Amino acid sequence: MDRFSLDDDKLLNSIIELKEKNPNGMSRSNAGNSYHSIDNIHTSPNFKNLCDCIIKFTQEICEEQKIKNMFYIGNMWANINSRGGFNDVHTHGNAFLSGVYYVKVPENSGNLRFTDPRPQSNLIVPQRGGETDMDHWNQIEFNGERGQVLIFPAYVPHQVLINHSEDMRISISFNIALDWS
Ligand SMILES: [Fe+2]
Repeated sequence: MDRFSLDDDKLLNSIIELKEKNPNGMSRSNAGNSYHSIDNIHTSPNFKNLCDCIIKFTQEICEEQKIKNMFYIGNMWANINSRGGFNDVHTHGNAFLSGVYYVKVPENSGNLRFTDPRPQSNLIVPQRGGETDMDHWNQIEFNGERGQVLIFPAYVPHQVLINHSEDMRISISFNIALDWS
């Protein structure tokens, strides 16, 4: 997790513009009153500053984890979850890492929930006390804030819970692919 200093109002306007130009977007995990834009917005100059920050942060992660491959942003898209919108459980195929940058997160607009990807991990889940080690959690939720970015392994199942607020929850998702050349 990191925090970027970007012009979020400008990003928000670019996303609204995207939706106006292409109101149908794409159908992926988005459900209910939820919009998924076209997924090549990393090629637009409007999102270049965000892409630069993502590349830098990913470089730090790869250096720390001793990953030797070069990488690139494979695709990127905007999500607008209006009241009642949510995202079904999914993983991101053909990606190494995935991430999300939060542009607007009203209160009660739906946490990001990760579920342990190990198939047997839900057989016995200990009762969770305040101090229970996270190794024994089967699910974890993240409540993003404007300006925060979260990068996670693309194979981890995740979902966005229903937006119960009156306002739009706006985020930008992306996939990091490895370069094998
Ligand atoms: Fe996702």
